[in-house]
Amino acid sequence: MSGITLGGRSKQDGSGGFSLFLRRWLANPLQMGSIVPSSPALTRRIAALVERAEDEVVVELGAGTGAVSRALLAAGVPPERLVVVEIVPDMARHLAQSLPGVTVIEGDAFALPEALPAALHGRVGTAICGIPLVLLPTEAQRRFVAAVEAVAPGRGFLLYTYCVTSPLPWRALGLAARREAFTPLNLPPASVWRYRPIG
Ligand SMILES: C[S@@+](CC[C@H](N)C(=O)[O-])C[C@H]1O[C@@H](n2cnc3c(N)ncnc32)[C@H](O)[C@@H]1O
Repeated sequence: MSGITLGGRSKQDGSGGFSLFLRRWLANPLQMGSIVPSSPALTRRIAALVERAEDEVVVELGAGTGAVSRALLAAGVPPERLVVVEIVPDMARHLAQSLPGVTVIEGDAFALPEALPAALHGRVGTAICGIPLVLLPTEAQRRFVAAVEAVAPGRGFLLYTYCVTSPLPWRALGLAARREAFTPLNLPPASVWRYRPIG
């Protein structure tokens, strides 16, 4: 089941919730994928790759404590055009408190068609994946690709990763793949890949 918070609350929190991140990593390292939030160098590169028409939204999947979300806002994505999805209730609460005006959905990215308001289907300019997809079996990756395709037909998604080569078996998933950014200034160094459905 997913909960939706619209508009956020008033408390500002620029800390990034590092202790919350660490606690969640200790509780479920596979779900987190990383022991530390993404660095400013990485989040700036992700934000620079966003494509969005004025009436489209950016959807971030697996927003954690909001490191990427804050970079998207800093790069000019209006809060009312940013939707973040996070499966861990504590983290979704933290996001809602620290990102005023942003739509925070506590829910499962694999159920995106049900979690995302119907009015936003077909109005997603860029989807950004923070979920450690590389750790999942191909069948689960296929379900993720289908969930994004259902709400953002033909658009694909950005995926940040510590892998040197593509973290996804793109041919098997029916995707075209391109590494569009790299930074050594992240722990560990990271790349940003863009995947788009073929045909
Ligand atoms: C590596 S962290 C990324 C956090 C943040 N974007 C950053 O760069 O610091 C992965 C996040 O994905 C969330 N997550 C994992 N599986 C998910 C799912 N199926 N749906 C939504 N969020 C998920 C985890 O709870 C975690 O907050």
